[in-house]
Amino acid sequence: MKLTQQQKDQFDREGYLFFPGLFSAEEATALNEAVPELYSRREAYNVREKGKEAVRTNFAAHLYSRPFARLARHPRMVEPVQDLLGEQLYMHQFKINGKMAFEGDVWQWHQDYGTWLNDDLMPTERAMNVAIFLDDVNEFNGPLMFIPGSHKKGVVEASHDLTTTSYPLWTVDNELIGKLVERAGGKHGGIVSPHGPAGSMILFHSCLVHASSANLTPWNRVSVYLSLCAVSNHIRRFKRPEYIAHRDFAPIDCLPDDCLLKDYAVELPWQDGMPASALQTSLESIEELTKTHGLRVKPAMTAL
Ligand code: SIN
Ligand code: MN
Repeated sequence: MKLTQQQKDQFDREGYLFFPGLFSAEEATALNEAVPELYSRREAYNVREKGKEAVRTNFAAHLYSRPFARLARHPRMVEPVQDLLGEQLYMHQFKINGKMAFEGDVWQWHQDYGTWLNDDLMPTERAMNVAIFLDDVNEFNGPLMFIPGSHKKGVVEASHDLTTTSYPLWTVDNELIGKLVERAGGKHGGIVSPHGPAGSMILFHSCLVHASSANLTPWNRVSVYLSLCAVSNHIRRFKRPEYIAHRDFAPIDCLPDDCLLKDYAVELPWQDGMPASALQTSLESIEELTKTHGLRVKPAMTAL
């Protein structure tokens, strides 16, 4: 799937592109049906909501689940990102976020690239977030919200919130959010929230400020979030476990367009369990990192 110049300009201006119903209901169902069994596993890669059984996020399913391994190689998802970043891509992160009916908690306002820089030493923002809805998303069940154009600010000031949810996150304070929303049009377009049927896809810039509210409805909002990084921009540090920040920088080879409905062969390296090495992390000193990589990083960021 190729993007038009108009779509590329819109992405540059607003920081996201929305493709309602890009995948069919049948394709979305094939993925969604695999989720309950993955969420039932007692594994480090399943992070549950604070004090609850409901899964908040599942990591790395593309390495042990056939349907998700196929999604990770889907040309409808990979090609437009390749087009925008102008380079081959590898999978930096792969999540299935639950936001389950009545249980799904908030995601505070944040950007992703700040963490990828500070935790993983990803040199530049040349990485893309992709959201694929596995359930219908409406105004009620905790849809993703964006501040259009906020990616133009680069990495903004954030502080580490360790308490609001079960998952530590570097969050942007209310005062700055107020300013960014005002700059984007205030009540007239300062916050947008793409809604659509299961199978819809959003591409959004790694510096776009985003959030979502709790899900108080009887409707799940399961969505896949993939982060695709330009191969030359691969991470330089393995401070986080491999199931969160991947270490295989081989370019993604796409499967045919019908791969969610036909049985193409895919490798599942973690099918029989996660290797112990995936939990190993390395921590160089900040001084060493600055000397070796010339990057300016903050100490100890440990979230998305
Ligand atoms: C969400 O699931 O609503 C947001 C998740 C994220 O920012 O990674
Ligand atoms: Mn995020």
